[in-house]
Amino acid sequence: MALATRTDRRPSFARTVWDSSVGKKTVMAVSGLIMLLYLVVHMLGNLKIFFGAAEFDGYAHWLRTLGEPFLHHEWALWIVRVVLVVAVVAHAVAAYQLSRRDIKARPSKYVHKKARTSYATRTMRWGGIILALFIVWHVLDLTTGTVHPDFQAGHPYQNVIDTFSTWYGNVIYIVAVLAVGLHVRHGFWSAAQTLGAGSRTRDRALKITANALALVLTVGFVSVPVAVMTGVVS
Ligand code: HEM
Repeated sequence: MALATRTDRRPSFARTVWDSSVGKKTVMAVSGLIMLLYLVVHMLGNLKIFFGAAEFDGYAHWLRTLGEPFLHHEWALWIVRVVLVVAVVAHAVAAYQLSRRDIKARPSKYVHKKARTSYATRTMRWGGIILALFIVWHVLDLTTGTVHPDFQAGHPYQNVIDTFSTWYGNVIYIVAVLAVGLHVRHGFWSAAQTLGAGSRTRDRALKITANALALVLTVGFVSVPVAVMTGVVS
Protein backbone atom coordinates (compact mmCIF):
# COMPACT_ATOMS: atom_id res chain seq x y z
CA MET A 1 0.00 0.00 0.00
CA ALA A 2 1.43 3.38 -1.00
CA LEU A 3 1.99 5.87 1.79
CA ALA A 4 0.08 9.14 1.55
CA THR A 5 2.37 11.95 0.46
CA ARG A 6 1.97 15.64 1.22
CA THR A 7 0.44 16.25 -2.21
CA ASP A 8 -2.15 13.47 -1.72
CA ARG A 9 -3.54 15.15 1.37
CA ARG A 10 -6.73 17.13 0.95
CA PRO A 11 -6.46 20.71 2.30
CA SER A 12 -8.56 21.29 5.41
CA PHE A 13 -11.88 23.15 5.18
CA ALA A 14 -10.32 26.15 6.99
CA ARG A 15 -7.39 26.19 4.51
CA THR A 16 -9.75 26.07 1.51
CA VAL A 17 -11.84 28.94 2.91
CA TRP A 18 -8.76 31.06 3.76
CA ASP A 19 -7.20 30.45 0.32
CA SER A 20 -10.28 31.70 -1.54
CA SER A 21 -10.89 35.42 -2.06
CA VAL A 22 -14.45 35.03 -0.78
CA GLY A 23 -13.07 33.37 2.37
CA LYS A 24 -10.64 36.24 2.98
CA LYS A 25 -13.42 38.79 2.44
CA THR A 26 -15.59 36.88 4.94
CA VAL A 27 -12.74 36.95 7.48
CA MET A 28 -12.46 40.72 6.88
CA ALA A 29 -16.22 41.21 7.30
CA VAL A 30 -16.50 39.19 10.53
CA SER A 31 -13.34 40.65 12.13
CA GLY A 32 -14.45 44.14 11.04
CA LEU A 33 -17.85 43.72 12.70
CA ILE A 34 -16.18 42.52 15.94
CA MET A 35 -13.99 45.67 15.93
CA LEU A 36 -17.00 47.83 15.12
CA LEU A 37 -18.85 46.45 18.15
CA TYR A 38 -15.81 47.28 20.30
CA LEU A 39 -15.67 50.80 18.87
CA VAL A 40 -19.34 51.51 19.64
CA VAL A 41 -18.89 50.31 23.25
CA HIS A 42 -15.60 52.22 23.61
CA MET A 43 -17.09 55.44 22.25
CA LEU A 44 -20.08 55.19 24.63
CA GLY A 45 -17.73 54.45 27.55
CA ASN A 46 -15.61 57.52 26.65
CA LEU A 47 -18.68 59.75 26.98
CA LYS A 48 -18.55 59.09 30.75
CA ILE A 49 -15.84 61.75 30.76
CA PHE A 50 -18.69 64.31 30.70
CA PHE A 51 -19.80 63.06 34.15
CA GLY A 52 -16.50 63.84 35.88
CA ALA A 53 -13.28 62.19 37.02
CA ALA A 54 -14.82 59.89 39.65
CA GLU A 55 -17.28 58.35 37.18
CA PHE A 56 -14.74 57.98 34.34
CA ASP A 57 -12.01 56.50 36.57
CA GLY A 58 -14.60 54.30 38.29
CA TYR A 59 -15.66 52.97 34.90
CA ALA A 60 -12.02 52.14 33.99
CA HIS A 61 -11.70 50.32 37.33
CA TRP A 62 -14.94 48.42 36.72
CA LEU A 63 -13.55 47.19 33.36
CA ARG A 64 -10.80 45.46 35.35
CA THR A 65 -13.13 43.83 37.86
CA LEU A 66 -15.74 42.75 35.25
CA GLY A 67 -16.86 39.12 35.71
CA GLU A 68 -15.45 38.78 39.25
CA PRO A 69 -15.57 36.60 41.30
CA PHE A 70 -16.33 34.04 38.56
CA LEU A 71 -13.42 35.42 36.54
CA HIS A 72 -10.08 36.38 38.02
CA HIS A 73 -9.11 40.10 38.22
CA GLU A 74 -8.68 41.61 34.69
CA TRP A 75 -9.48 38.32 32.92
CA ALA A 76 -12.54 39.71 31.11
CA LEU A 77 -10.40 42.64 29.92
CA TRP A 78 -7.70 40.24 28.71
CA ILE A 79 -10.27 38.11 26.88
CA VAL A 80 -11.47 41.24 25.05
CA ARG A 81 -7.84 42.20 24.28
CA VAL A 82 -7.05 38.74 22.83
CA VAL A 83 -10.22 38.76 20.68
CA LEU A 84 -9.33 42.26 19.43
CA VAL A 85 -5.72 41.38 18.60
CA VAL A 86 -6.87 38.26 16.68
CA ALA A 87 -9.46 40.39 14.83
CA VAL A 88 -6.95 43.14 13.97
CA VAL A 89 -4.31 40.65 12.72
CA ALA A 90 -6.82 38.57 10.70
CA HIS A 91 -8.30 41.76 9.18
CA ALA A 92 -4.89 43.20 8.25
CA VAL A 93 -3.43 39.94 6.84
CA ALA A 94 -6.55 39.26 4.74
CA ALA A 95 -6.54 42.88 3.47
CA TYR A 96 -2.85 42.68 2.55
CA GLN A 97 -3.23 39.35 0.75
CA LEU A 98 -6.33 40.50 -1.15
CA SER A 99 -4.56 43.66 -2.31
CA ARG A 100 -1.53 41.57 -3.46
CA ARG A 101 -3.91 39.37 -5.47
CA ASP A 102 -5.57 42.46 -6.91
CA ILE A 103 -2.22 43.92 -8.03
CA LYS A 104 -1.07 40.59 -9.56
CA ALA A 105 -4.36 40.18 -11.44
CA ARG A 106 -3.94 43.53 -13.24
CA PRO A 107 -3.59 43.02 -16.96
CA SER A 108 -0.94 45.61 -17.76
CA LYS A 109 1.53 47.86 -16.02
CA TYR A 110 0.92 50.60 -18.57
CA VAL A 111 -2.64 51.45 -17.59
CA HIS A 112 -2.98 54.66 -15.56
CA LYS A 113 -2.49 53.89 -11.88
CA LYS A 114 -5.34 56.13 -10.72
CA ALA A 115 -7.87 54.44 -12.98
CA ARG A 116 -7.02 51.00 -11.63
CA THR A 117 -7.73 51.46 -7.94
CA SER A 118 -11.01 53.09 -7.02
CA TYR A 119 -11.27 56.02 -4.60
CA ALA A 120 -12.96 53.75 -2.03
CA THR A 121 -10.19 51.11 -2.27
CA ARG A 122 -7.43 53.68 -1.81
CA THR A 123 -9.25 55.34 1.11
CA MET A 124 -9.70 51.95 2.79
CA ARG A 125 -6.03 50.98 2.34
CA TRP A 126 -4.61 54.28 3.59
CA GLY A 127 -7.25 54.54 6.31
CA GLY A 128 -6.40 51.02 7.50
CA ILE A 129 -2.67 51.86 7.69
CA ILE A 130 -3.37 55.12 9.58
CA LEU A 131 -5.63 53.27 12.03
CA ALA A 132 -3.10 50.48 12.65
CA LEU A 133 -0.41 53.10 13.46
CA PHE A 134 -2.89 55.05 15.61
CA ILE A 135 -3.85 51.98 17.68
CA VAL A 136 -0.16 51.39 18.53
CA TRP A 137 0.24 55.08 19.52
CA HIS A 138 -3.03 55.11 21.46
CA VAL A 139 -2.17 52.01 23.55
CA LEU A 140 1.31 53.44 24.29
CA ASP A 141 -0.35 56.76 25.21
CA LEU A 142 -3.38 55.85 27.35
CA THR A 143 -2.99 52.18 28.32
CA THR A 144 0.74 51.69 29.05
CA GLY A 145 1.66 55.40 29.24
CA THR A 146 4.96 54.77 27.42
CA VAL A 147 4.67 57.88 25.21
CA HIS A 148 2.60 59.90 27.70
CA PRO A 149 4.72 62.50 29.55
CA ASP A 150 2.75 62.47 32.86
CA PHE A 151 0.97 59.11 32.81
CA GLN A 152 -0.70 58.09 36.07
CA ALA A 153 -1.87 54.46 36.25
CA GLY A 154 -5.48 54.23 37.46
CA HIS A 155 -6.25 57.87 36.57
CA PRO A 156 -7.44 57.74 32.94
CA TYR A 157 -9.47 60.99 33.33
CA GLN A 158 -6.35 63.05 34.03
CA ASN A 159 -4.38 61.13 31.37
CA VAL A 160 -7.03 61.98 28.73
CA ILE A 161 -7.04 65.68 29.78
CA ASP A 162 -3.22 65.75 29.48
CA THR A 163 -3.31 64.13 26.03
CA PHE A 164 -5.79 66.69 24.71
CA SER A 165 -3.88 69.57 26.25
CA THR A 166 -1.19 69.21 23.55
CA TRP A 167 -1.72 70.28 19.94
CA TYR A 168 -0.20 67.05 18.58
CA GLY A 169 -2.46 64.92 20.82
CA ASN A 170 -5.50 66.63 19.32
CA VAL A 171 -4.19 66.33 15.75
CA ILE A 172 -3.37 62.60 16.10
CA TYR A 173 -6.73 61.71 17.66
CA ILE A 174 -8.89 63.86 15.37
CA VAL A 175 -7.19 62.52 12.21
CA ALA A 176 -7.62 58.94 13.53
CA VAL A 177 -11.27 59.50 14.41
CA LEU A 178 -12.00 60.89 10.92
CA ALA A 179 -10.25 57.81 9.49
CA VAL A 180 -12.48 55.62 11.70
CA GLY A 181 -15.58 57.32 10.29
CA LEU A 182 -14.54 56.88 6.66
CA HIS A 183 -13.38 53.29 7.25
CA VAL A 184 -16.60 52.28 9.03
CA ARG A 185 -18.78 53.97 6.38
CA HIS A 186 -17.38 51.92 3.52
CA GLY A 187 -16.37 48.88 5.61
CA PHE A 188 -19.83 48.28 7.07
CA TRP A 189 -21.36 48.45 3.61
CA SER A 190 -18.76 46.04 2.16
CA ALA A 191 -19.14 43.61 5.07
CA ALA A 192 -22.91 43.56 4.60
CA GLN A 193 -22.48 42.77 0.88
CA THR A 194 -19.91 40.02 1.58
CA LEU A 195 -22.14 38.40 4.20
CA GLY A 196 -25.06 38.38 1.77
CA ALA A 197 -27.19 41.06 3.47
CA GLY A 198 -27.32 43.23 0.35
CA SER A 199 -30.33 43.24 -1.96
CA ARG A 200 -32.16 45.79 -4.08
CA THR A 201 -34.67 46.43 -1.31
CA ARG A 202 -32.16 46.44 1.58
CA ASP A 203 -29.27 48.39 0.02
CA ARG A 204 -30.79 51.77 0.84
CA ALA A 205 -31.30 50.83 4.50
CA LEU A 206 -27.74 49.43 4.65
CA LYS A 207 -26.31 52.67 3.25
CA ILE A 208 -28.26 54.74 5.78
CA THR A 209 -27.07 52.45 8.62
CA ALA A 210 -23.44 52.70 7.44
CA ASN A 211 -23.64 56.51 7.29
CA ALA A 212 -25.39 56.74 10.68
CA LEU A 213 -22.84 54.45 12.37
CA ALA A 214 -19.93 56.40 10.89
CA LEU A 215 -21.44 59.73 11.94
CA VAL A 216 -22.33 58.65 15.50
CA LEU A 217 -18.83 57.15 16.03
CA THR A 218 -17.05 60.21 14.62
CA VAL A 219 -19.10 62.74 16.60
CA GLY A 220 -18.96 60.64 19.80
CA PHE A 221 -15.18 60.14 19.69
CA VAL A 222 -14.36 63.67 18.54
CA SER A 223 -16.52 65.21 21.28
CA VAL A 224 -13.87 64.30 23.89
CA PRO A 225 -10.88 66.26 22.46
CA VAL A 226 -13.25 69.11 21.49
CA ALA A 227 -14.61 69.23 25.07
CA VAL A 228 -11.09 69.38 26.53
CA MET A 229 -9.95 72.02 23.99
CA THR A 230 -12.96 74.23 24.73
CA GLY A 231 -12.70 73.78 28.51
CA VAL A 232 -16.07 71.97 28.84
CA VAL A 233 -14.09 69.10 30.40
CA SER A 234 -11.05 70.05 32.46
C1 HEM B 1 -11.01 60.61 21.30
C2 HEM B 1 -11.02 59.35 21.19
C3 HEM B 1 -10.58 58.32 22.21
C4 HEM B 1 -10.38 58.42 23.57
C5 HEM B 1 -10.57 59.63 24.47
C6 HEM B 1 -9.96 57.12 24.03
C7 HEM B 1 -9.66 56.79 25.34
C8 HEM B 1 -9.09 55.62 25.77
C9 HEM B 1 -8.59 55.34 27.09
C10 HEM B 1 -8.67 56.31 28.27
C11 HEM B 1 -8.09 54.08 27.10
C12 HEM B 1 -7.45 53.36 28.29
C13 HEM B 1 -8.54 52.66 29.04
C14 HEM B 1 -8.04 52.06 30.32
O1 HEM B 1 -6.85 51.74 30.43
O2 HEM B 1 -8.88 51.88 31.19
C15 HEM B 1 -8.25 53.55 25.76
C16 HEM B 1 -7.88 52.29 25.36
C17 HEM B 1 -8.03 51.79 24.09
N1 HEM B 1 -8.62 52.41 23.01
FE1 HEM B 1 -9.29 54.31 23.00
N2 HEM B 1 -9.93 56.26 22.96
C18 HEM B 1 -10.29 56.96 21.83
C19 HEM B 1 -10.38 56.48 20.53
C20 HEM B 1 -10.08 55.20 20.16
C21 HEM B 1 -10.17 54.71 18.80
C22 HEM B 1 -10.62 55.54 17.61
C23 HEM B 1 -9.78 53.39 18.84
C24 HEM B 1 -9.66 52.39 17.73
C25 HEM B 1 -9.55 52.67 16.45
C26 HEM B 1 -9.46 53.05 20.21
C27 HEM B 1 -9.00 51.84 20.65
C28 HEM B 1 -8.56 51.57 21.92
C29 HEM B 1 -7.92 50.34 22.31
C30 HEM B 1 -7.67 49.13 21.42
C31 HEM B 1 -7.59 50.47 23.67
C32 HEM B 1 -6.86 49.46 24.55
C33 HEM B 1 -7.80 48.75 25.45
C34 HEM B 1 -7.00 47.95 26.45
O3 HEM B 1 -6.55 46.89 26.08
O4 HEM B 1 -6.80 48.42 27.56
N3 HEM B 1 -9.66 54.17 20.98
N4 HEM B 1 -8.86 54.50 24.97
